Amino acid sequence: MNILVTGRDGQLGSELQELAKTSKHNFVFVGSKDGDITNKDQIQELVSNHNIQAIINCAAYTAVDKAETEQDKAFLVNREGVQNLVAICAESNCKLIHISTDYVFPGNGTSPYKTNDPVAPLGVYGASKLAGEEAILNSDIDGIVIRTSWVYSTFGHNFVKTMTRLGKERDSLNVVNDQRGCSTYAKDLGAICLQLLDETWNSDQRIYHFSNSGEITWFDFATEIMKLTGSNCKVLPVPSSEFPTPAKRPSYSVMDTSELKKDFGIAPRNWKQALEECISQL
Ligand SMILES: NC(=O)c1ccc[n+]([C@@H]2O[C@H](COP(=O)([O-])OP(=O)(O)OC[C@H]3O[C@@H](n4cnc5c(N)ncnc54)[C@H](OP(=O)(O)O)[C@@H]3O)[C@@H](O)[C@H]2O)c1
Repeated sequence: MNILVTGRDGQLGSELQELAKTSKHNFVFVGSKDGDITNKDQIQELVSNHNIQAIINCAAYTAVDKAETEQDKAFLVNREGVQNLVAICAESNCKLIHISTDYVFPGNGTSPYKTNDPVAPLGVYGASKLAGEEAILNSDIDGIVIRTSWVYSTFGHNFVKTMTRLGKERDSLNVVNDQRGCSTYAKDLGAICLQLLDETWNSDQRIYHFSNSGEITWFDFATEIMKLTGSNCKVLPVPSSEFPTPAKRPSYSVMDTSELKKDFGIAPRNWKQALEECISQL
């Protein structure tokens, strides 16, 4: 299969470049200059020139706080960009795997969010990602949406790399302990995307949730990072009110990943195991 991966230089795009090295498929990786999803003609040309049969969209506007003041930019990439991909997939009979977020949920849940639970984003980023989901769900292309959360990788900037650095520089660190979710190693998410391309999709189920398994707070996550990196930095639990941010964060965003298990037998590994592997490669 010939696969176009957009957002090549992001966390997920970078992990997919690694995974592609041992894949049986042919890949074309593009970044925001040579594969701008807001430029329909540019993407259409790539799809035609390379006889693309599937697109994995890793491109997104991901600056959660900045989105509050850059609404147009966030919607341009996360809604219009996805609308372009949907139109191209419809014209070229391409499959689409699109990545979305736990931020589409209101964040006041108490049990893991199911794929059909009501959505109500708390901020602009979540709203723009929801609009992208809708572009796919309102179309009849062969497309699926994978919602994920708390993504980290050996590539790019993320919580794991920041904590690892701060663990070397500081004696103690305050980390919020009132937001529950689960982390996702981008390598595991990338592997699932590739696996799904080899499966037959269930036309009744177009949204899936994927994170590593378990339920943690950022404090739990930071504590484990210090342990695995051998840092003596003391992690102190604090409420979110100590770190005010322009965009409100969901206090609960654990996602139920059972649809992947039901349709494809895919069960994510535990968050600690995935974290350990990532840290061993930093
Ligand atoms: N990171 C998280 O914690 C998290 C959580 C839940 C869901 N997600 C979702 O997971 C997916 C992957 O996230 P990630 O962490 O890998 O993101 P990332 O590291 O921020 O990468 C996003 C990539 O998209 C590119 N991009 C931006 N605008 C573009 C455009 N118009 N056309 C083409 N490419 C463009 C960026 O390129 P430039 O840098 O050149 O602009 C960047 O390389 C995204 O859909 C994100 O919304 C992420």
